[in-house]
Amino acid sequence: MPHLLHLDSSADLTTSRSRAVTAAFAEAWRSRGDDFTVTHRDLHRDPLPHFATNEQHWPAADRRPDAQVPADQDALTEQIHAELLAADVLVVGAPLYNYTVPSTLKVWLDHVHIPGALAGEGSQPLKGRPAVVVSARGATYDAGTPTESWDHGVPVLQIILGNSLGMQVHVVQTSATLADRLPDLADLKERADAELEAAQAAARELALTL
Ligand SMILES: Cc1cc2nc3c(=O)[nH]c(=O)nc-3n(C[C@H](O)[C@H](O)[C@H](O)COP(=O)(O)O)c2cc1C
Repeated sequence: MPHLLHLDSSADLTTSRSRAVTAAFAEAWRSRGDDFTVTHRDLHRDPLPHFATNEQHWPAADRRPDAQVPADQDALTEQIHAELLAADVLVVGAPLYNYTVPSTLKVWLDHVHIPGALAGEGSQPLKGRPAVVVSARGATYDAGTPTESWDHGVPVLQIILGNSLGMQVHVVQTSATLADRLPDLADLKERADAELEAAQAAARELALTL
């Protein structure tokens, strides 16, 4: 059965653009047939706990002999891995918060990026599987502008999901989302609306073809 893992991390439960785009993706995925199933994990509503110790970054065999990892933390990491491994496709809602991913999504990345388990040379069980990153950014980060390199959210997802886990990463982006709210960005409202529409269309297209 083709299975989708749908992650959201926006703290905005009413007007979130990343949630709107991931929802469009999941809806198009389900429209392919009853056997196209979805697991939805909302990292904002149900935040994962931070690591109790740095030793959790390593599989049990590579930990220091005196490592003390709480059993429920290891069980949680296993559950997160099982959820990801069960997915044929991953879609991740990733708003830009303080130039990076929300801390809730960062904790999920901590659980997922375990060298020797899901990541690293010779241990990439997710190699080649599609991951769709849905980025929503309040401002703009256009090539050739002074803020071009300020978005550290998408790159970290590309490095971890793409380079470390070997997944095939697609990025769907919508920016200038604060045009409705910030007078300085008001001129960008039309662009913001057009980008949202284009992002939803791109997400649907990917969901129907991946
Ligand atoms: C805590 C917080 C931090 C933010 N930091 C940034 C930022 O660094 N750069 C930016 O362009 N927008 C920033 N924003 C605006 C969000 O990126 C924007 O509202 C985006 O649309 C959020 O995604 P969402 O619509 O899916 O909730 C921030 C918003 C919040 C709530």
